[in-house]
Amino acid sequence: MPPKAKAKTTAETTIESTITTLRQNAEAQFAHELAELSQADTRQKPPNWQLSPWAVATYLLGGKLENGFEISPKYIGSRRLMEIAIATLATDRALLLYGVPGTAKSWVSEHLTAAVTGDSTLLIQGTAGTSEEAIRYGWNYALLLAAGPSMAAVVPSPMMNGMNDGKIVRIEELTRIPADVQDTLITVLSEKTLPIPEIGTAVQAQKGFNVIATANNRDKGVNELSSALKRRFNTVILPVPDSADEEVAIVHKRVASMGKALELPIEVPAL
Ligand SMILES: Nc1ncnc2c1ncn2[C@@H]1O[C@H](COP(=O)(O)OP(=O)(O)O)[C@@H](O)[C@H]1O
Ligand SMILES: [Mg+2]
Repeated sequence: MPPKAKAKTTAETTIESTITTLRQNAEAQFAHELAELSQADTRQKPPNWQLSPWAVATYLLGGKLENGFEISPKYIGSRRLMEIAIATLATDRALLLYGVPGTAKSWVSEHLTAAVTGDSTLLIQGTAGTSEEAIRYGWNYALLLAAGPSMAAVVPSPMMNGMNDGKIVRIEELTRIPADVQDTLITVLSEKTLPIPEIGTAVQAQKGFNVIATANNRDKGVNELSSALKRRFNTVILPVPDSADEEVAIVHKRVASMGKALELPIEVPAL
């Protein structure tokens, strides 16, 4: 039997009873775990990271802190893969999570960003219609026409915001983005700058900036990554569950969290 969770403080109970959003993002949903980890974390942190790589791994894979606080596992599967993913984020390589649909690519990407930067909302959704503007920047056309190009008329993309703030940017379904638009990423990933030629300047990425992209290989309408872009990524292939037990554990966890979000009466599904 796992030990009982600590009794909730009144603050936590009030927060829970006032939440009405349908789905909270990871950093809000697991705020108490992130706070406990941050308190227990004495290891060295890469620049601009909220937690050390060790604490990020514990957040993803679960574990028990010295003070007895239990961190729930988010990813069920190989520890090694998660360690490679975390280590990649601390280098100048971007991370590509690759695999068939439903292997937790998006899930891992959200939790990694939540743990590393405390903000999983810098997100670019890749579609066949994703334009360069969605990756670089757009213009406030009223300002542009009135006063010409200037920084004030630039509408930043999540990528530009992430570079400015030294945060991790997520790109979902990278391979759905048309190949010529994908290649916009090459300069960003190799030079860590985003040129704005119209005003003769560039945004320089701050330390801590990196990109996590997800892509799946078995779907209609995917565009192969160019080899130039591939080389800028460390690829981690997320496998399907190893064993029936693992699959049961994943379903169990998912049913429990969905039930909680929908406020269904708790009933453990029969196995
Ligand atoms: N290995 C795993 N560990 C924990 N949860 C998993 C695992 N594999 C799948 N899941 C669950 O499956 C759900 C769907 O995964 P998702 O990230 O949307 O898949 P993908 O983006 O790879 O298509 C996730 O929300 C997660 O709850
Ligand atoms: Mg996905």
